[in-house]
Amino acid sequence: MNCLQRLLLASALLISSCALGPRQEPSPLPIIPRPASVVRSAGAFILDSSTTVVAEAGDTAFLHVARMAADLLRDGTGLPLEVVTQSTGGRSIVFRKSDTIREGEGYRLASGPTGVVIEARTAAGAFYGLQSLRQLLPPDRQIDAQSRRVWSIPAATILDAPRYAYRGMHLDVARHFFPVSFVKRYIDLLAMHKMNRFHWHLTEDQGWRIEIKRYPRLTSVGAWRKGTLIGQYSDMPHRFDSVRYGGYYTQEEIREVVQYAQERFVTIIPEIEMPGHSLAALSAYPELSCTGGSFEAAMLWGIFDDIYCTKDSVFTFLEGVLTEVMDLFPGTYIHIGGDEAPKTRWAACPRCSTTKAREGLKDDHELQSYFIRRIEKFLTAHERKLIGWDEILEGGLASQATVMSWRGVEGGIDAARQRHDVIMTPGSHCYFDYYQSRLPDEPVAIGGFTTLEKVYSYEPTPQELTPEEAKHILGAQGNVWTEYIADGSHVEYMAYPRAIALAEVLWTPEAGRDFNDFADRLPGHTAHLDRMNVNYANHLFDIRSLVGPAEEGITLSLSSRYPGTTIRYTTDGTEPTEGSQRIEGSMGITSDLDLRAAAFKGGRRITRVNRTRVSMHLAAGKPVSLTAPPHDNYSAGGRQALVNGLLANDDRYGDGEWLGWSGQNAEATIDLLHERSLTSVRLRFYQGVGQWIWLPSSVEIQASNDASSYHTVATKDAFDVPSTAKVVPVEVPLRGTSARFLKVLVRRHGIIPEGQPGAGHEAWLFVDEIVVR
Ligand code: ACM
Ligand code: ZN
Repeated sequence: MNCLQRLLLASALLISSCALGPRQEPSPLPIIPRPASVVRSAGAFILDSSTTVVAEAGDTAFLHVARMAADLLRDGTGLPLEVVTQSTGGRSIVFRKSDTIREGEGYRLASGPTGVVIEARTAAGAFYGLQSLRQLLPPDRQIDAQSRRVWSIPAATILDAPRYAYRGMHLDVARHFFPVSFVKRYIDLLAMHKMNRFHWHLTEDQGWRIEIKRYPRLTSVGAWRKGTLIGQYSDMPHRFDSVRYGGYYTQEEIREVVQYAQERFVTIIPEIEMPGHSLAALSAYPELSCTGGSFEAAMLWGIFDDIYCTKDSVFTFLEGVLTEVMDLFPGTYIHIGGDEAPKTRWAACPRCSTTKAREGLKDDHELQSYFIRRIEKFLTAHERKLIGWDEILEGGLASQATVMSWRGVEGGIDAARQRHDVIMTPGSHCYFDYYQSRLPDEPVAIGGFTTLEKVYSYEPTPQELTPEEAKHILGAQGNVWTEYIADGSHVEYMAYPRAIALAEVLWTPEAGRDFNDFADRLPGHTAHLDRMNVNYANHLFDIRSLVGPAEEGITLSLSSRYPGTTIRYTTDGTEPTEGSQRIEGSMGITSDLDLRAAAFKGGRRITRVNRTRVSMHLAAGKPVSLTAPPHDNYSAGGRQALVNGLLANDDRYGDGEWLGWSGQNAEATIDLLHERSLTSVRLRFYQGVGQWIWLPSSVEIQASNDASSYHTVATKDAFDVPSTAKVVPVEVPLRGTSARFLKVLVRRHGIIPEGQPGAGHEAWLFVDEIVVR
């Protein structure tokens, strides 16, 4: 193939070795999250049939941890592992309460030929010591139990404690419902990764999932919807199945889950959404709305105008609900939602006008703030604390509120500066309902693109904060919204291994964090998950393509983290085989190409097939600059994604090739390196009115030969396409203009008009390749 010119670059591991700076010393033990400190010594502790588990000091909480340890290790090894409260002098695994450990959740694990001692100030610390211990035994021990293998724990001293106090995962059980058995399994996985908060998202427009004795219709009516959207929100027209869907947890089940979590040192934070995302509750009690209804639990995803009214009877209702919620959940925090509440109904409601006049509120943001403050007073009177999504900042924060920052980090920064506690969960790094690979066979997701590596790169404490303000960042949380996730196995696919990366971000000291080292430990760790039949995604070893600039065309390098592999490829549409052409280093590419590549080891293909489609044009691989960077959530490909010769996956506006802006124009300046005669610029836009993504209002192309004086060579401000088209190519003819520099000015739509989803907000603008010919 003459389009492939081999460049003799020696290293095949271009991505992994260049992108991440100097390496930390590799972790000496295969534990995730990586402990704060590990010192290895010679020898090992061998478990055998005489090994006992000792819970010293007669502390019942420590005894509980010792029993869990025995159960876990017995299950694996088949050894008897009797639990005793006094050492019999034999070789044993000892749990010891010790005030020499300073941090509440910290522990010290010392293993050597005579046994293992786990010391902690609290039972939680002892439990985390156990989680480290279990990872030191081989994962496949059940199988080996029959073959009389030796159960060996390496000699070492581990001193460990978490970096952040709040280490959370969230689960939306309202868009789809998950049974108690799955929720327990989810909690098991959190605890295994030393996470300690489970945010249980219990109410939504599409279903109410918690039994409230005072208000039985919340579950007899509100827990059920008549059908569910088929496919993606952006598939037009919307189609629905007609399968009645729903479910809820009885109070007895909730108590069972709360106790299960407590035994694993996980605090549950229940969320009861208000004032928005409340359509299911209104379907049961329409008198709580502004208009009186009638309503049905939503079959579609999104944001709905009908929310709780602000009249007094609504507060009576919510206080009744929260009273039962507080009775069920002993934790300090109650999450009251607060996000995405349109004010359309309030603006037209006489009862809401009365509230505003009575309370001296100047607008509907202040009315929302009044709503939240009033609920906060109620919670505070019952010695609980309120958490809300970052919209609760609008119109003024309630006095003690903790803010969950999701629309970015700005809400968190703002709240911390006001000396409020903050939990970080920005969409850019912490939404595990986003896509995690570019492979075309990924299950349908809401959008976005958040790889394992991106999650791992997350730093929860914003640099903008002073040390005093930074103390208010309690930690972070991964969110699993389930519009497109219908069963537990799919939840695990989306959450894992990304939750493991977040667990290490939250536990391990910043200086000990290193993605390469994490990636080295992960395969050993997922072997434990295999044993538990966890359906985690495995993209770590996928072939990755990296496109770079070249004097002529672009360069393409392919890599896999899998050690000792050969990467082979085809360009004729067939699957690569052991006999296919081998790639070394990177290739120069100067014309269109459809390339399929995979990694091989020992004559076997060991990765999925990666497909890279190159569409060559004059700007591909050329320097580009942007006046305004894209939004953090939709910037994965970097600015070069606009001119890298690769076309975005059509269905996924967040897959890294699409860059997204909100409230900004997309303005790119391209240097073609030489003066060229140009015939056209072809752009691709994504349109998804339901997701607030609109076509631009206009496109203007300016040309220059000196990079300082530009003149307009073409404009286009009418795009004659149906509103259902997702990917909209727009061709702008240039008629033989000759230039070296091009400015492509894509002007955003602006505010979304009334009657459309997201009315009153800035429309998003999504742009992919700028093809210059
Ligand atoms: C949210 O994602 N609406 C908190
Ligand atoms: Zn009202």
